[in-house]
Order: sequence, then structure tokens, then C-alpha cells
Amino acid sequence: MINRYTVIGQPVAHSLSPPIHELFGELTQRRVSYARTEATPSTFLDTVVAWQSEGGRGCNVTMPFKELAIEACDRLSRAAERAGSVNTIHMHRDGSRVGHTTDGAGLRIDIERNLRRPIAGRRVLLIGAGGAARAVVEPLLLAGPTALHVANRTADRAVALADAFVGIGPIEGSGLDALDALDPFDVLVNATGASLSGERLALPASLLGEDSLAYDMAYASGGTPFTAWARAHGATVADGFGMLVEQAAESFGIWEGVRPKTRMAWGRLRALRPTTA
Ligand code: ATR
Repeated sequence: MINRYTVIGQPVAHSLSPPIHELFGELTQRRVSYARTEATPSTFLDTVVAWQSEGGRGCNVTMPFKELAIEACDRLSRAAERAGSVNTIHMHRDGSRVGHTTDGAGLRIDIERNLRRPIAGRRVLLIGAGGAARAVVEPLLLAGPTALHVANRTADRAVALADAFVGIGPIEGSGLDALDALDPFDVLVNATGASLSGERLALPASLLGEDSLAYDMAYASGGTPFTAWARAHGATVADGFGMLVEQAAESFGIWEGVRPKTRMAWGRLRALRPTTA
């Protein structure tokens, strides 16, 4: 029996999830196959149901359906409920669909384990207040930073996002224009859509300390405007490829009950990256 999975998104043609999960199957000696499935906002829910009725055991959900995916689930994990986002649907044998989010865990694991940057006791800046930012707030807070500052072009969205998580840890929100007045951050995470459109954020260099990590949740072979800015000011930079791999490993663990040892296969995983943007 091969367990079948897919990633549903728009577009999905360039998704690296199929080769990543196929490698995970090899590493864990599980028989899995993994496809790409294109959908539209009006076909998404039917697409999920059809995948399940054709024998699919689960799917990943990517842009722009991570919020809509909540409606495709019978139950949600606590993390998905808090994040308002589902990137992993587990199709159980009893026919129920359970929604999970692994994006935040993927980000945290990449920063702490792969890049060896502690979040506990550090100052963290999260730039952006859309769905991508919301999905990672709780895992970042649970990692124990001394401060999590959410900054967004539209200040009200950052303040509202921070307010929604204020019971969990030290979080506050502001507009990008308030960043001038703040002390440097140890870890800066770009969760805006600006990188995807090639736009540069207007950020003051004073946000970067001696040894800051600037992490862009987007990934692009030549780097992003955000990582270029940070590198030019001496920061260590990373893009979201490691997060992509680790969120995939978390999803695989939910479906198959075994988490692939990503560290053992990093060379092969990195080779899956396209060489051009
Ligand atoms: P996603 O689900 O990918 O997060 P979204 O909910 O549309 O998408 O949110 C996009 C985020 O990127 C928002 O924080 C947005 O800022 P606004 O709330 O002010 O719109 C941010 N963003 C996109 N392009 C940007 C740009 N050029 N400069 C600054 N912020 C940008």
C-alpha cells in the first residue's frame, strides 16, 4: 500500500514539496507518493474532498488557501485554531479530516536547531501581520523571547495581531514607522509578501545588532531584498528554505507517525533547490 499525499495551491507547479516528501519516504522507508494539485478558491473544498475519496491520506495546503482550509476540516489542532491557518490536512480512516499547521514549528526548528540561534531570552522582530505572520506568532512566543515585536506597514493590523496573542507572551505591535525608536533585535523575521514581489521594505539599520539573524520566510536562489539589506549591514541571513523542509518534516510526522531526520539528509535536500530564481 502506498500512502498518497498532495499539495494543493495556486500556483503549485514549482512546489518543492513532492521531491522533499519523496526523499522523506526513502529516509523513513515508508511507501509514499506525493503529487501537486492546482485549485481555485471556488474549487478548493471540492478538491480536498475528491483527494480523500480517491484514497488520499492527507494533503498540504499552500498559498492562497491556508485560511480557507479551516473550512475543509472536521477538527483542528490547537495550534491551527490559534494560528487561524491550516497547511496540513490529515485524512483519517474514519473519514474525518483534521487540520494542523506546521509552519510555525518549521520556522522555530530552522532557527533554533539548524541555524543554532536561540529565541529564548532574545528580542525578536516579526515584520508583517497577514496570514503568514499570524501562523508563526504562537510558536515564536512559546520559544520564550524577552520581546516579540510585530511591525506592519498597516499599523492597526500589527496591533490587532499582537492583541490576539497577548495572553501567551511579551508581544506588542506597531507600524513600520515606529521601528526607528526601538533597540536592535537578535532575530528579525520577514513574513511580508514584499519579498515575493521583489519590493524592499524601508527598515532602519538600527534594527540590526552586532550578531543579528535576519530570516526571510520567502526563499529565492539569489536572496531577497530583505536578506540583501541585512547582509549589507553585516547581519547573518537565512531564507525560508529550511522552514519549508522542517514544516514538511512535521507534516510527514503527523501523517506517517515518524519524523524524518532532516539533518541526516541536508545535502540532498539542499540539492532540490532550483539554481535560478
Ligand atoms: P500572507 O497570507 O502571505 O501573509 P496577506 O495576509 O495579504 O498575505 O499579508 C501580506 C503582508 O505583507 C501584510 O503584512 C502586508 O502589509 P499590509 O498589512 O500593510 O498590507 C505585507 N506587505 C506586502 N507587501 C508589502 C510591501 N511592499 N511593503 C510592506 N509590507 C508589505
